[in-house]
Amino acid sequence: MSIKTHPVFPNLHLVEHPLIAHKMALLRDRATATKTFKELVHEITLFLAYEVTKDLPTTTKTIHTPLESYKATVMSGKKPVILPILRAGIGMVEGFLQLMPSARVGHIGLYRDEATLTPHRYYFKIPAASEDRQFFVCDPMLATGGSACIAIDELKARNIQRIVFICLVAAPEGVKQMLEHHPDVDVFTAALDRQLSDKGYILPGLGDAGDRLFGTR
Ligand code: PRP
Ligand code: URA
Repeated sequence: MSIKTHPVFPNLHLVEHPLIAHKMALLRDRATATKTFKELVHEITLFLAYEVTKDLPTTTKTIHTPLESYKATVMSGKKPVILPILRAGIGMVEGFLQLMPSARVGHIGLYRDEATLTPHRYYFKIPAASEDRQFFVCDPMLATGGSACIAIDELKARNIQRIVFICLVAAPEGVKQMLEHHPDVDVFTAALDRQLSDKGYILPGLGDAGDRLFGTR
């Protein structure tokens, strides 16, 4: 797996791996059915989650193997929080939980007004005492960047500073918006696409992630 940082967007980290590329091709394909789409989102998230958790704090702890004592490396600090942006972010939660079963899960509900593309918040719930925790905000799509920016505004308004944003497909417009509003937040993505359409869809993209995940197309 290689991570490319972008010459124009210092906040962007493109996670590259032949298996991710192959699974992304299947994900984008309009012929891919809902069940497979959901499985692919989960599998690609596993790769991304592995990568974005690599700097989590660790400590040492003495354990006893069947043969002797051993100072083992274990995770330390408060349990991280996975924060999916509803609805489509829900598809990424299990991938994170598979690697970090004791992570907490918050939720933020946002939907984009189809005409103005402005995100509207309808739900927000995160664990108590969240200030010192690492937050992994996830949403398959970073389009205009409006939804991601609002989600992060909400966290920062609660004194949460350790935030990473993870998506499957990013548009340059959304990455730029994130760089302008939240330059301290790293964006990890499996793909950086060409542009947004005049209706705010990512091109080439994969269509409406929420609809494809939940079969509401
Ligand atoms: C989609 C997607 C992101 C948002 C991205 O959600 O899952 O949350 O659009 O667009 P933006 O970067 O321009 O804000 P949508 O609002 O369609 O809601 P849904 O997940 O409930 O379908
Ligand atoms: N949201 C989606 O689900 N798809 C896009 O292409 C843009 C925003």
